[in-house]
Amino acid sequence: MAEQSATTQDRVPPEVRRRVDELRRLIHRYNYEYYVLNAPTISDAEYDALMLELRRLEEQYPELITPDSPTQRVGAPPAEGFATVQHEIPMLSLANVFSDGEIRAWAQRVYRLSNRSDIEFVTEPKVDGLAVSIVYENGVLVRGATRGDGYTGEDVTNNIRTIRMIPLRLYPPPGVELPRVLEVRGEVYMNVQDFEQLNRERGEQGLSLFANPRNAAAGSLRQLDPSVTASRPLRFAAWDIGRWEGTEPPTTHHAALDFLAQLQIPVVPDYRLCHSINEVIAECHRWQERRDLLEFEADGVVIKVNDRALYQALGVVGREPRGAVAYKFPAHEKTTIVRDVIWSVGRTGKLTPVAILEPVEIGGVIVERATLHNEDEIRRLGLLLGDAVVVQRRGDVIPKIVATIPQRRDGDERPIEIPKQCPVCGAHTVRLEGEVDRYCSNPNCPARLKASIRQFASRNALDIEGLGEKISDLFVDLGLVHSLPDLYTIDWNRVLQLEGFGPKKVENLRKAIEASKQRPFARFLFGLGIRHVGERNAQLLAERFCSIDRLMQATIDDLLEIPGFGPAVAQSVYEFFREPKNREMIERFRQLGVRMAEEEAPARVPARGPLVGKTVVLTGRLETLTRSQAEELLRRAGAHVTESVSRKTDYVVAGAEPGSKYLRAQQLGVPILGEEDLLRMLRDSGIAVEAPIRSSD
Ligand code: IVH
Repeated sequence: MAEQSATTQDRVPPEVRRRVDELRRLIHRYNYEYYVLNAPTISDAEYDALMLELRRLEEQYPELITPDSPTQRVGAPPAEGFATVQHEIPMLSLANVFSDGEIRAWAQRVYRLSNRSDIEFVTEPKVDGLAVSIVYENGVLVRGATRGDGYTGEDVTNNIRTIRMIPLRLYPPPGVELPRVLEVRGEVYMNVQDFEQLNRERGEQGLSLFANPRNAAAGSLRQLDPSVTASRPLRFAAWDIGRWEGTEPPTTHHAALDFLAQLQIPVVPDYRLCHSINEVIAECHRWQERRDLLEFEADGVVIKVNDRALYQALGVVGREPRGAVAYKFPAHEKTTIVRDVIWSVGRTGKLTPVAILEPVEIGGVIVERATLHNEDEIRRLGLLLGDAVVVQRRGDVIPKIVATIPQRRDGDERPIEIPKQCPVCGAHTVRLEGEVDRYCSNPNCPARLKASIRQFASRNALDIEGLGEKISDLFVDLGLVHSLPDLYTIDWNRVLQLEGFGPKKVENLRKAIEASKQRPFARFLFGLGIRHVGERNAQLLAERFCSIDRLMQATIDDLLEIPGFGPAVAQSVYEFFREPKNREMIERFRQLGVRMAEEEAPARVPARGPLVGKTVVLTGRLETLTRSQAEELLRRAGAHVTESVSRKTDYVVAGAEPGSKYLRAQQLGVPILGEEDLLRMLRDSGIAVEAPIRSSD
């Protein structure tokens, strides 16, 4: 055994060790630039190449794999449950204050108890997520735990490791000494945009939605399967140190945060040293004004005594330290009454309940409507007409009802009727089993066509300037447009006769519609409004299939191969293109000259299957593919196509009359594949190979 490990040791040439170390440092640096600084200095492709090189070296020399290698972020199998973790230093909570007066009163107490008046404070945003503790031993991340009740939390190490902002290993800059044990405390959270995107995707997949970024972050971190956590856009911001062993800890809170920042650990943004309570209050106001502009949700500002010894000496009341306090922002919520519920019909025929509210001012805006999402949401809220409700409005987001207040009922409330008939065309409505939404059953419902055009013409789809809701609704009502392709055959002479349509306006609109024929394929797909195909899925479809013809031939299995595509999405796309009406529509688009294919080389889709990361050399003439087709397909399957055969080559594909590469592969013992093998492996990689693509060249 000892002998074996000695030979294994010898197996790794020193230059490989050096390169592996260098790759890990580089990847650490580029991760930091990308995720923390939001300022990458290399392209995704270059980054991928470094990761790949490291993976390959680790594959070749598995003895070099350590848990802090960037290749090892995701990989732990699903857990049965979480072990508990004791927090050696309890994770306390904060007392709240709500006004300048209360901030001053808190500071007065600090001055009085310390018998000092020259106290410095640090202000930080109060990030709305969940508190975690991360322990580094000798610079290596060894444990991540939730706060739990402050004394006992859950061991979520394998999930914490998947958060790319969090270094798995610390690289102290020259002159900085690492403590042997360093506990970092901070918030795991989600940016508002990422949260909304996640919810959009969940909605498209028929999954339940998260109420807010905080719940989404908590739900994502507490997953038993780390690969689920890895797929969620979690972030981290440190706001304190906990255990610190082996060196002298910083004497001030500000220096502690600076230290963490030096180690490239993400720290709460814009933490600031304040020399007076007036400065603190000014900072609180500044944060409050910026609140809606932040990328993350902040529910207040945390004010901390800077001197750590004084902070300690001030002690704790209950679970709240006297040396810190949270100044909470006024809520983005108000109470009002639901007067009515109307149902709007979308492009897919989906009926969405919208609450008509007693107007109420929230954050300087009068709110009169709030979305209720679907009938299950009405049920979940237990909502009745006439109920008092809590309405939330954040920034520019559509207001929503977050709770009902049944205590305020007076008996006049009435149940909300779920429409059996479409409110626009009167056709019956259906709700399929296992789905949350109800649909109008009439494919020609004018509301659907109107909504389809809105979707088709929208900014992120075909971006038809000037074709707003009013005009497109009018065109439908006047019978100028009966389907999406009709947009390209509008009788402009008739339009010219309409009131308010001068020649200039009509010409601009005509040009804008014409120009929309050339938009990228992904935007066209998004514009079609296929159920479950939002912007992201449209992009993935365009990248994978490159043209409408290939997409229309895709089987459910082909679609399921796309990472992130579940059965609902695959089924929906598949069925869309089986529907004769839709196929006719595509044909008409084609005749009208609408672009329905990728022009440039498709962007990379993370591939799966037997060829990912393999180095392949082609030799000889293939029967069904040209050389460049084969190369392109191999690349799409995640393989690297190189020219010469070496020990690093994984496969040589040999066609008719192979050259010297064939011999060299035999000499080196590199596996040689025939054309059939290649086609099979491509198919196993989810790549549709229409045989034969090769013409007569
Ligand atoms: S300090 C003993 N700083 O707020 C004080 N907490 O209400 C420990 N939080 O459990 C907390 N941002 O989850 C601190 N800049 C910040 C924070 C912050 C968010 C959370 C944290 C804590 C809760 C207390």
